Amino acid sequence: MSKAPTIAAVDVGTGVVKAIIVQKEPEEGGFKVLGKAENISSGVRKGVVNDPDKTGKVIQATMAEAKREAGREIDEVYANINGMHIFCLSSKGLISVSRADQEIAQDDIDRVIEAAKTFSLPVNKEILQIFPREFIIDREKGIKNPLGLYGVRLETEIIAVGGFVSYSKNLGQAVLNADLQASDLILDPIATSRAVLTSQEKELGAVVVDLGAGTAGISVYEEGDLLHTSVLPVGTNNIRNDIAIGLRVDIETAEFIKNKFGASILGPKSTKKEKLKLSSGEEISFQKNEIRKIAEPRLEEIFDEVEKELKKISRNRLLPGGAILTGGGAKIPHIVDFVKKRLGLPCRIGVPRRFSPLEDDPSLSTLCGLVLCGMDLEEEEGGRINFKGAFSKIKKIFQVFIP
Ligand SMILES: Nc1ncnc2c1ncn2[C@@H]1O[C@H](COP(=O)(O)OP(=O)(O)OP(=O)(O)O)[C@@H](O)[C@H]1O
Ligand SMILES: [Mg+2]
Repeated sequence: MSKAPTIAAVDVGTGVVKAIIVQKEPEEGGFKVLGKAENISSGVRKGVVNDPDKTGKVIQATMAEAKREAGREIDEVYANINGMHIFCLSSKGLISVSRADQEIAQDDIDRVIEAAKTFSLPVNKEILQIFPREFIIDREKGIKNPLGLYGVRLETEIIAVGGFVSYSKNLGQAVLNADLQASDLILDPIATSRAVLTSQEKELGAVVVDLGAGTAGISVYEEGDLLHTSVLPVGTNNIRNDIAIGLRVDIETAEFIKNKFGASILGPKSTKKEKLKLSSGEEISFQKNEIRKIAEPRLEEIFDEVEKELKKISRNRLLPGGAILTGGGAKIPHIVDFVKKRLGLPCRIGVPRRFSPLEDDPSLSTLCGLVLCGMDLEEEEGGRINFKGAFSKIKKIFQVFIP
């Protein structure tokens, strides 16, 4: 086996922890999956690690499976930071171009971004990623890459995305507990959208909705750049819990019913009766319509919240690239038609591509997106950081959390 460099990632989900080890295939421009594993998550609530010991154990076991399959030793992984604490804000910076001949150098770009980063934050919050939206040279707007252009006054508008310091520490600690180092922590909605959005959708304006077990991650792009991101504390676990209460069954049975009879949630109405024998020996019966009555309002509520997020940035029903639905919840049958109507936008299911031999699976988008963001970062570090649609990452050193 060739020993070409590998990239490893772990998606610390509320429902499922997933790990992957890949090798880049330079000719095909894709990735060869050397090892992949997933296990039921533990110690994660609505996207946030609240028990690093428990989560660390699951990460360790999952990564061990992936390592065995890959036949590689891995000690660094990219991991995702998620949860409703994630916030985004926009900020502006202004500098005078330093060179006498007025040619804009990389140093000027670095300085203007630095100037845009001088906003105050409460001590419990930190910025994790910066996305320059545009540069303005002597009042000429809409410049994506000012390097080598001429001007006196350089301005920029950035989108800064961050979260609570303690939550990224908890995640970093969980990774360390699994005997791994975090190469970097990447914001979950950013990783997910990296795997599923086409450059045309990004340009036209599109929203990615990652319907996970405990969260619905939203990221909106326009003119090639990030415009907004937010994480809602609702997911398929809410549907499962509603079914448990509505049909008076335990959580495992409710999860089974949700997945087995998923077509009843949004599909054609049916009064057909279903019978199910539980592991306890007890038999339950219910009408398929009951599942719809329980689950459909919950999905309506989730997508009404998504619509509210779009309203905040005046993009509701105004994104020609449409809604790209991904995450485990995207497997609910008929959800594309439902979302089209609810959001009034074109809709498709987003899955990661060019990861051979992975099957098209929307629940792997964040995991594959972490690999792609990791690769972007390594390429940026290898060369000079540029801002042609790429993102600037404030690298975090997690060794400091070793007790
Ligand atoms: N066929 C299906 N129908 C409905 N839901 C499904 C189906 N398959 C998987 N799911 C749901 O997808 C969830 C897992 O999705 P995913 O892996 O995207 O979530 P996660 O990343 O663990 O959670 P989060 O992103 O919210 O932290 C499961 O908990 C399950 O409820
Ligand atoms: Mg997820």
